[in-house]
Amino acid sequence: MTAQQLRQKYLDFFKSKGHTIIPSASLVPHETDASTLFTTAGMHPLVPYLLGAEHPGGKRVVNVQKCVRTGDIDDVGDNRHLTFFEMMGNWSFGDYFKEEAIKWSFEFLTSPEWLGLDPKRLYVTTFKGENGIPRDEKAIEVWKETFAQAGMNVTVAGEDEMINNDIRIIPLGTDDNFWIAGATGPCGGDTEMFYDTRPEEGALEGKFSDLVGNYRLIEIWNDVFMEFNKTADGQYIKLEKPNVDTGMGVERTLMVLSGESTVFETELFQPIFEKIETLTHSKYSDNEETKRAFRIIADHIKTATLMISDGVTPSNTAQGYVLRRIIRRAIRYGKLIGMQTDFSPKIAEVVINMYGHFYQELNSNTKSIFEELKKEEDKFRLTLENGIKEFEKLKHKNADKTISGEDAFNLYQSYGFPFEITKELALEADLIIDEAGFNKELEKHQELSRTASAGMFKGGLADTEGITIKYHTATHLLLAALREILGPETFQKGSNITAERLRFDFNYDQKLTPEQIKQVEDLVNQKIGEKIPVELSELPKGEALNIAKVSFDPSKYGDIVKVYKIGDFSIELCGGPHVNNTEELGRFKIQKEEASSAGVRRIKAVLE
Ligand code: ALA
Repeated sequence: MTAQQLRQKYLDFFKSKGHTIIPSASLVPHETDASTLFTTAGMHPLVPYLLGAEHPGGKRVVNVQKCVRTGDIDDVGDNRHLTFFEMMGNWSFGDYFKEEAIKWSFEFLTSPEWLGLDPKRLYVTTFKGENGIPRDEKAIEVWKETFAQAGMNVTVAGEDEMINNDIRIIPLGTDDNFWIAGATGPCGGDTEMFYDTRPEEGALEGKFSDLVGNYRLIEIWNDVFMEFNKTADGQYIKLEKPNVDTGMGVERTLMVLSGESTVFETELFQPIFEKIETLTHSKYSDNEETKRAFRIIADHIKTATLMISDGVTPSNTAQGYVLRRIIRRAIRYGKLIGMQTDFSPKIAEVVINMYGHFYQELNSNTKSIFEELKKEEDKFRLTLENGIKEFEKLKHKNADKTISGEDAFNLYQSYGFPFEITKELALEADLIIDEAGFNKELEKHQELSRTASAGMFKGGLADTEGITIKYHTATHLLLAALREILGPETFQKGSNITAERLRFDFNYDQKLTPEQIKQVEDLVNQKIGEKIPVELSELPKGEALNIAKVSFDPSKYGDIVKVYKIGDFSIELCGGPHVNNTEELGRFKIQKEEASSAGVRRIKAVLE
């Protein structure tokens, strides 16, 4: 089975069960959701609906979501860690619950019409109850019934987690079987499905966690039963209607289906490896070191390609920094196996061919993907060459095999050499870095630059604060006007305010026409002229969710949230402060409209 056939089967199966197919959201969470830099799970963009907002697709939806997790980035290179992966998921927003979710999971996995996996190789975990939340008896009951229908009478493991041919249901605690994305938000116990990847080793018998630890059992699917909203003060409030959130990894499922022992053997990596082989004198299978390098390069350039197609560009902050770091790490490993210049766009081309039919934004942003990768590669090669020369000097300078914090910081500051790479080089050369010393230097430096920028304001405008408050309110008006003129799918992608101007980034595919710019400008000025009072209300989160025009991540906010309303024109969740009436703003003028990154436009505007 190909990856595309797998995705399609999943979507078709749940469509046949009344689900609406929805597209993957961007890898970059909505601007109002600053809780993570990247979309890390299928449920992430759907949080508002899991908390009760109405989804345009109805109560049952299904998707394949692009995800990036960079928490284990240093482990990429072994035989299983990835930064980019795809998560298939089916969702019930207050509709079906445990019984249907479990039965459908089993049907999709084992029916010959769908994946046709062997039920005798399937084991499942359930929530054993903890923190005042009871053991999930219902999930156990449904699993027993489901297995029985397939002719298998299975029982439940005890605290010792010992399993065998008959004991296939393993209740586990919060660490394993309770899902929450972050500290607060929708959550609940879950049931996870594991597949025996090595039946040739004989009857499966032993402690569950050992069998997972040696990868004989691999998790392929997680059904979360969301019954609570965890609040900032640690309470679990029962949701009005419970939801189902499931996640099945495309890479792992494909691996299991094709009988391979790692995801790197599947068609989601093989074409990239073949390309790398044509660009070097190395073969993936040469030795453990080439394997590691190939995996890092393939994973990282794949992730970078997908990130750029969602509008991220290399920089020194936030998403851009992560992107820069993974491109640079890939380049360093590329050099190790003999890659010549400009190899990352060539690998990206393979990635676009592999994924472009499913994620269209790869095709529409091909040019910027190639350009950004080439630019970053050129920049980094220079940095690397200079930095490595400096590093070599340090190596010889330090008889005690230690690199001081000051030296490491100098590499970073003067040569632009990423600290992670200094660390990796040091490890290879058997040197120790004074990491605490490096961090101290970094802090000292940041302190200095903060003081410097604070100083810039001194002696400047007396009422800096008053002016920035005005720009803040003008920003709300601008977003509302853009949504009115360009369409409601326009969202904030970034915002920056100084005493001199506002700067605002938003998603839109083309350059704005002079007419559109004038329309936006006129609409904002019209609202200023209407002398509309700016009203602050504090509402329970659920209510705010219903009226705010711009979606947001509720888990970021407390139970009572601030909502700023400018008539009916703009309603946004915001900490404030704002002016009292739009008439205080004066005249609004757009000075510049330009591209910020792929699919993102930037407006600079002033109040006169
Ligand atoms: N949200 C669940 C997960 O990511 C399905 O595992």
